[in-house]
Amino acid sequence: MNENMAGKVVVMTGATSGIGQVAAERLAAMGARIVQVARDRERGEAALARLRERAPGAAHAIHYADLARLSEMKRVAAEIAGAEPRIDVLVNNAGAMFGSRQVAEGLERTFALNHVAYFVLTHGLLPRLVASAPARVVNTSSDAHAVATLDFGDLQSARAYRGSLLETLRYGGPGFKVYGRSKLCNVLFTRELARRLAGTGVTANCLHPGFVATRFGDHSGGLISFGIRLAKRFALSPQEGAETLVYLASSPEVAGMTGEYFYRCRLAVPSPAARDDAAARRLWTETARLAQLEDQKASTSQAPRRPEGNAAQSIDLDSPPEDR
Ligand SMILES: NC(=O)c1ccc[n+]([C@@H]2O[C@H](COP(=O)([O-])OP(=O)(O)OC[C@H]3O[C@@H](n4cnc5c(N)ncnc54)[C@H](OP(=O)(O)O)[C@@H]3O)[C@@H](O)[C@H]2O)c1
Repeated sequence: MNENMAGKVVVMTGATSGIGQVAAERLAAMGARIVQVARDRERGEAALARLRERAPGAAHAIHYADLARLSEMKRVAAEIAGAEPRIDVLVNNAGAMFGSRQVAEGLERTFALNHVAYFVLTHGLLPRLVASAPARVVNTSSDAHAVATLDFGDLQSARAYRGSLLETLRYGGPGFKVYGRSKLCNVLFTRELARRLAGTGVTANCLHPGFVATRFGDHSGGLISFGIRLAKRFALSPQEGAETLVYLASSPEVAGMTGEYFYRCRLAVPSPAARDDAAARRLWTETARLAQLEDQKASTSQAPRRPEGNAAQSIDLDSPPEDR
């Protein structure tokens, strides 16, 4: 057992399949207690049973939510914050690509699941993370971010999904472009989160897992699913794909690093668009508005005192460090 995860509480989304499933099982084998968010009861119970079998020493837990729906993101964040006085690591990993535009509760599904859910869950659990510091937030991004640009006039991808013949020929349709944007949002969100968390002892980093043969793309539809299915023959295994995620969640080597992007357990440089800090700030404000979180302050005054008796540090995430 790797002692550095013994007794730690790891909240993780997307742990019923692929990269997240392998990472959850590895972190549990290192001694962590896994609290996962799943959408499907059958798959969730199977994942929980595997964790209990492989790492029976901890009381692993599960909460259910469709993370593409804003009301469920908020409900599950509040549920976990109420149930877990201590959170050492939050892994935002659930994600998908959709070949056609779908909207639920006013949000386009790729943007909602791949970006807004990261934002809302993090926002809801930050008081617990800050009170448990040193703590970590790990966001699964993708190198698909590198071909993307953000369009603040079209965050919900109404125009992007109209697509073009060129996109259909190159990527099997507009879904890949919309997915790439959401993964660009992951890098920008990570950078801005790290900036706002400066001095709290909570770090935020993101990663590209590599191209991995998981269930990713199986339900995207049409040409995209067909193309991904073919390409998966040359992809990494989920075991290989989980390595960087496990590294960021657990390794002492990255304890002091924050706001960075990793690939193959090493620092990597994200695209110029992903290093645009003005865009990162604007995305934060726009996401808070769309998620209707503008007026809610993520204040650790709601958080319990740390077991050692330290008073919870007060942090207002809506005002960045220079304004505090
Ligand atoms: N595979 C790759 O090549 C690759 C490359 C770069 C980045 N990524 C990223 O890696 C992450 C994990 O993907 P993966 O490759 O492991 O794919 P996967 O096998 O399809 O796993 C996706 C996970 O997300 C969960 N999920 C999907 N929609 C959800 C929803 N609406 N609410 C709650 N949970 C939901 C799935 O739950 P179910 O089990 O119920 O479906 C599953 O646990 C994603 O963020 C993806 O963008 C993957």
